Amino acid sequence: MSKTIKEALRGASLTLKEAAISGYQSEGALLLAFSMGKDLIYIYTHPQGELSGPQLERCRRLVNQRASGVPFHYLVGEKEFMGLAFKVTPGVLIPRPETEILCQAVIDRAEQRYSGPFNLLDLCTGSGALAVTLAKKLPSCRVWAVDLSPEALAIAVENARRHGVSEKVTFLEGDLWEPLIPIQGLTFSMVVSNPPYIPTGELASLQREIKEHEPFLALNGGPDGLDFYRQIFNSLHTFLEPDGMIALEVGMGQIPQVKSLSAASGLFKTMEVVKDYSGIERVLLAYR
Ligand SMILES: C[S@@+](CC[C@H](N)C(=O)[O-])C[C@H]1O[C@@H](n2cnc3c(N)ncnc32)[C@H](O)[C@@H]1O
Repeated sequence: MSKTIKEALRGASLTLKEAAISGYQSEGALLLAFSMGKDLIYIYTHPQGELSGPQLERCRRLVNQRASGVPFHYLVGEKEFMGLAFKVTPGVLIPRPETEILCQAVIDRAEQRYSGPFNLLDLCTGSGALAVTLAKKLPSCRVWAVDLSPEALAIAVENARRHGVSEKVTFLEGDLWEPLIPIQGLTFSMVVSNPPYIPTGELASLQREIKEHEPFLALNGGPDGLDFYRQIFNSLHTFLEPDGMIALEVGMGQIPQVKSLSAASGLFKTMEVVKDYSGIERVLLAYR
């Protein structure tokens, strides 16, 4: 049976409301628009428009998947980060607004500190949100980006191509610093990372959407959530230039421990903490 846009919209919203999806109205409208290959304005200005059979089928399938807990951005295959649209699949963490705080802090500090060409490293790059955005917004930087997951790196490579920075970013597969070791003499002015930082014991209490759909590898920070910070600070001295700095996203309540790791590395003269939109201390910046 055919349906009008108005009827399909009502049905989609209701299904998502019953599944306790908080943004049920907007997500219903967006999934309907996506199913029809139209934008939201079209949906709201053509309530009597008819959906074709395949459009209706596609909309039902997506709405049911969303109702069962699949993250919205995996369904539409994209997430906006710093005003750029990034491809996302279940192989990568969906970039978060908190990470935009890290990204903007890095852009601001880089513009203050480095006038000529400089090297920047993004450890645990995932979708490439940080590496690609920084390559695009900082014209004089050369970016290296590392991830252990080949699926994530394939998406990051696509995102670099999508945003025209493939020539500026080198993607390396491997365990944190390990793929950099064979590259003789490679050092960085800036090391940036949003590593996995959820303590293993807390993974089970995350929202269903996250724990059942986003990659375990992107979330698990070890017993106390600090494994990656330890490893990062352990080898940082080999790769960070004398005028260098590090910028890290950290989990809620982890700033004191990560600051201690930073201080214990003995590398830095000063440190700075930036809060996120909720007032949570989210980013640690440390300067040599
Ligand atoms: C929290 S996600 C961050 C992704 C992206 N930087 C962002 O901010 O959206 C962490 C990433 O670390 C990667 N990862 C996990 N273990 C790793 C390791 N040992 N070495 C390198 N990358 C790793 C995961 O595959 C995942 O892509």
